[in-house]
Amino acid sequence: MAISTATTVEDVPVFEEDLFTKEALRNPFPYYRKIRDLGPVVRLRGLDIYALGRFADVQSALRSPDVLISGHGVGFNDLLNAPAEQPAMIQSDGERHRRLRMPVARQLTPKALQHRRTEMYDIVSARVAELVGAGWVDGVTSLARYLPLTAVSHLVGLPENGRSNMLRWASAAFNLAGPNLEHLQGDLAALREVQQYLLEVDPAELREGSWAQTLFENVAEGRLTLAECRAALSGLVLPSLDTTIYAQANLLHNLGIFPDQWRALKSTPELIPSAVLESVRHSAVVRWFSRFAASEYHVGEVRIPQGARVMLIYGSANRDERRYVSPDQFEVTRNPTDQLGWGSGPHMCAGMHLAKLEMEVLLQALVEHVESIEVGEPIIGSNQGLYGFDAVPIRLSG
Ligand code: HEM
Repeated sequence: MAISTATTVEDVPVFEEDLFTKEALRNPFPYYRKIRDLGPVVRLRGLDIYALGRFADVQSALRSPDVLISGHGVGFNDLLNAPAEQPAMIQSDGERHRRLRMPVARQLTPKALQHRRTEMYDIVSARVAELVGAGWVDGVTSLARYLPLTAVSHLVGLPENGRSNMLRWASAAFNLAGPNLEHLQGDLAALREVQQYLLEVDPAELREGSWAQTLFENVAEGRLTLAECRAALSGLVLPSLDTTIYAQANLLHNLGIFPDQWRALKSTPELIPSAVLESVRHSAVVRWFSRFAASEYHVGEVRIPQGARVMLIYGSANRDERRYVSPDQFEVTRNPTDQLGWGSGPHMCAGMHLAKLEMEVLLQALVEHVESIEVGEPIIGSNQGLYGFDAVPIRLSG
């Protein structure tokens, strides 16, 4: 394949394949490799999108928030990128972004979460113990979803009608992260539903002491307006379940298909934090987001013009052979502290420590109760924003 030496927009290579077909969404990794090999920047055929797939370029882009801004949307269609009256944290820049982020992120620091570790471990440990010797079960419904749907949705604290909709809303919101909105009427309706819900949710109905309720205290204390608080709340409601469920499902699958890595972890549990990072590197749940080039942006020799939509492919950056040796292998000793599965820069995932905690206690429970993990043929999801398994048959033996 020719190596790109492009310097002008016209010379930027075009990636001819469609990244958004069901087949590509289910196994995006060969597509990512072709994008990386075509050059540091490619244009997606038929779409007005410049895509970056190499680690160093995605990382630099995420750390250039003054040029590559989020305030004009981080999706790939005009509907999601349209200016909102009260844009969410992920769709804000500068001072407004900091104001929305701080009260959410403050509740999700390692220190703030530390006293939840034992409680979360106990919940997941009891579940793992029940599954050992129980034969083949679906690892997603019986295990990966368990902690998020019990502990996490309780901690977020929405009343029952909100809690029961959180999964459906999140799946719809992420699925709209594609350029093509045909056939997505159901998802659009779900997005409108959640937007309406966030506008109307009554703080008095939120669980006492919950993260959502604590967020509303910022209004009383004058740190956020009521409208800003509702915008910040979407950062707890939309990304806190599906992402971690997929991350745990992907982790279970990796342990099953790389049995030597499971044995290494079992004999050296100190590797648990590294195994969590490695699974998010290897099987990045959030596929991509985008930025808007507020002024010309340079990637090496390539000048991306002002006004361009720039796609940052986290899942590709994490498999970049320019950065990682044998990137398609899942290696629990790798400890990829730089991996981009949670992003980087000012928009780096505000729930990262919670996600890590959930994955760590799951691994701790597996190490404690399980001798071997077998996995069967999974059903791979085709959500346009999230990569992961919708079902993974697993058998845990003690
Ligand atoms: C393994 C699970 C997760 C993954 C892989 C993930 C991934 C990401 C990524 C890649 C971003 C960066 C967005 C950007 O660059 O524009 C992000 C942002 C964000 N995530 Fe997560 N996430 C996860 C779990 C969570 C959880 C559990 C929560 C909430 C409790 C959460 C809340 C957020 C919020 C609020 C943002 C926006 C941050 C900002 O704009 O400053 N995420 N996440």
